Amino acid sequence: MDPRNILVTSALPYANGALHLGHVLETIQTDIWVRFQKHRGHECRYICADDAHGTAIMLKAEQLGLTPEQQIANIKAEHEKDFNGFLINFDNFHTTHSEENKQLSEEIYLRLRENGHIAKREITQLYDPEKGLFLADRFIKGSCPKCKAEDQYGDNCEACGSTYTPADLINPQSVYSGATPVKKASEHYFFKLPEFTEFLKTWTRAGHLQDSVANKLSEWLDEGLQEWDISRDAPYFGFEIPDAPGKYFYVWLDAPIGYMASFKNLCDKEAGLDFDTFWGKDSKAELYHFIGKDIINFHALFWPAMLSSAQFRTPTAVFAHGFLTVNGQKMSKSRGTFINASSYLEHLHPEYLRYYFACKLSGQVDDLDLNLEDFVSRVNADLVNKLVNIASRCAKFISKGNDGFLSKHIENPALMQQAIDASDKIAALYEQREYGKAMREIMAIADEANRYIDEKAPWSLAKQEGKEQEVIDICSMGINLFRILMTYLKPVLPEMAQASEAFLNDTLDWSGELTALTSHQINKFKPLMKRVESKQIDAMLESNQKMIDAAMGSSDKKEDKKAKKEKQPKKDKNAIADEITFDDFAKVDLRVAKIIKADHVEGADKLLALTLDLGEYGTKQVFSGIKAAYSPEDLEGKLTVMVANLQPRKMKFGMSEGMVLAAGPGGKDIWLLEPHEGAQPGMRIM
Ligand code: 2FM
Ligand code: ZN
Repeated sequence: MDPRNILVTSALPYANGALHLGHVLETIQTDIWVRFQKHRGHECRYICADDAHGTAIMLKAEQLGLTPEQQIANIKAEHEKDFNGFLINFDNFHTTHSEENKQLSEEIYLRLRENGHIAKREITQLYDPEKGLFLADRFIKGSCPKCKAEDQYGDNCEACGSTYTPADLINPQSVYSGATPVKKASEHYFFKLPEFTEFLKTWTRAGHLQDSVANKLSEWLDEGLQEWDISRDAPYFGFEIPDAPGKYFYVWLDAPIGYMASFKNLCDKEAGLDFDTFWGKDSKAELYHFIGKDIINFHALFWPAMLSSAQFRTPTAVFAHGFLTVNGQKMSKSRGTFINASSYLEHLHPEYLRYYFACKLSGQVDDLDLNLEDFVSRVNADLVNKLVNIASRCAKFISKGNDGFLSKHIENPALMQQAIDASDKIAALYEQREYGKAMREIMAIADEANRYIDEKAPWSLAKQEGKEQEVIDICSMGINLFRILMTYLKPVLPEMAQASEAFLNDTLDWSGELTALTSHQINKFKPLMKRVESKQIDAMLESNQKMIDAAMGSSDKKEDKKAKKEKQPKKDKNAIADEITFDDFAKVDLRVAKIIKADHVEGADKLLALTLDLGEYGTKQVFSGIKAAYSPEDLEGKLTVMVANLQPRKMKFGMSEGMVLAAGPGGKDIWLLEPHEGAQPGMRIM
C-alpha cells in the first residue's frame, strides 16, 4: 500500500476560556485517528490553533484588565498544557491571530470579491449606546414578553420556552452596560452563499459527509440559503477588511482559514513540507476536519463554498461527532458536571479517559455519555484486570526461569494467528472511526488470552518438576498476545504502549505484517497502569466545583449566606413560609417521577436512597427522609412528584439530585405525593 498524505484538524477552541471535557472528547477522537494513520506508516499531520478573534474575547480581556493579545497568549499556554496532558500530539498548534492567517484571509476575501461573490448593503441592528457596540441577540436581556420571567436572553425564554426577537423583550438591556439598546444602521459585507446552491447540493452528496449530516443539510439547501454576513463593526478584535476601514472580518470567516494558516506556519518550520501540495486546487493529499455537530454549517456549507471560489481544494471529509453528556445529562455548572480539562488531569490519568471515550465512540453523530461509575468499572475491568494482567501474570516466569528470553517456538500457533488475523478488521474499524467496535474486537482477543493462561495455569505447572519449558512456552505465548494487543491499542494508549515497548524491548509497529517474537529477550516487568479509584473521581469533582465557584465568584457569597443563616433564629417548621413571587414559583420544575429503586442507606437513620426515573429526562438519585414512613419495597414502582431542577447537594452519603414532595407532620406520618393515574415519568406539573 502506498503511503497516504493526510492533513487532519480538530475545531479551533476559543481563546476566552479553559478547555473542558467536551473539547477533550473531540481532540481525543482526532488524536487517536492521527496516531493510527501514523502507526500504519502514512504521512499524517495534525494541526490546530486557538480561535482568537471576536467580541467575546475582546470583552473578556477588558474585564481582566489585559490587552486582547495578552489574554490570547495566556489562554494559548493554558490550552497547550491541557492538550499535552491528554497526550494530544499536534504537529502544530497556532493561533488565528497570526500573520499567516491575516494574509490568507485577505487573499481569500479578495478572490471572493474578484469573483463577484461579495455583496455590500446597509442593515439595522440593536446597539449599546454606552459601550458603543452592536449587540447580538444573546447579549440583550430583559423580561420575557409572555411569562414575564426576568433576566431572559434576547432570543428565547428559559422559563417558559417561548421564542421571540430582542425587540419584544420587556425592558431590554445590554448585558455589557445595562443601557437600553437603540436601533442603528451600518454597512455590512456578505458572502453570496445562494450562488453556491448547486455546487453544494452536489458536494454534500459526494461522500464527504456522514449520511445523517448530508440529510440535514439537504433540508437547509431545499429551504434556500441566505447570504452570510462576514463583517463586524469596530470595535472588534480581528482583521480589518481590505478597503473597508472600521470593518472587520467576522470571527467565523477567518477561523477555518486558521487551519490553513497553522499548516502554513508548520511548512515554514519543516523543510520539505509544501503548502500547495496540501491546499492547491488539484491537491492529491487528503484533508479531514473533525468537528462537533453544532458547527456543521460552517464546515460543510460556508467553508467548501469559500474554498471553491478562492481556488483552493475542498475537504476530503468533514467528520462530525455528538455532544458529551456527564452522567446522562448535559454538562452543567450547577450540577458540578461541567468538568474542566485541568481538573481531570489533576486527579486522573489521561489514558483512562482516552480508553473510555474510545470504547464509546463511533463514526456517527451520536452524543456520548461519560458515566462516572461506568468509567471506573470499565477502565479497571478492561485495562487493569484484563489487559495488564496478561503481561503481569506471565512476565515473572520468563525473567526468573529463562533470563528474560521468550521461547524459541509458539506454543499455540492457531491462537497466535487468530490474534494477528484480526489486524485488518481492527484497522478498518479505526479508519471508519468505529473505535467502540475496535475496542470490543481487541478486548475479545484479551479474553481469549486470559482464558488460555487460566486453562494452562502456568503457576501450578511451575511447582511441578520437569515442566519448566512448558511454563516458558505458555508465558511466552501470553507475552506475544499482549504484544499484539498493545500494537492495536497504541493509538489509544500511547504512554502505556511506550512503557510496553520498554518492557518488551521492541517497537510496536503496525505498518506491515504482524509476527510473533521468539528467542527475544524482554526486560523486567514494571506495573503498566494503576487501578482508578472512585475517590479520585470525588476529588476531581470537588476541585472542579471549587474552580467553578471561583470563576462565578460565588464561593464567597455561599460562605456569607451560611454565616448569616447560622445567626438567624430557628423558624417554626409549620408556619407558612415567606411569600414568593410568581417568577420564583415558575422556576420550580415539578415533575412526575417513578421510583425504580429504593434502598436503605448505611449509617442513616432517616434516609432512603431513591432512584427516580424521569422518562426521557433520565434518572436521578435523591436522598429522602421518609424511612420511618415507608419501607423500600413499598416504594418501588410508585409514581411521585419531585422538584427536578433543585441544585444537586452533596450529602454525607452521596449526591442528592432533587427532592421528592411529601406531606405530613413528620416521622411515621409522612405521605408521598402520588399523582393520579395516567401520569408518565417526566411529565411537568402545572
Ligand atoms: O465553536 C467553536 O468553538 C469555534 N471556535 C470553532 C472554530 S473551528 C474552525 F472553523 F476554526
Ligand atoms: Zn417566558
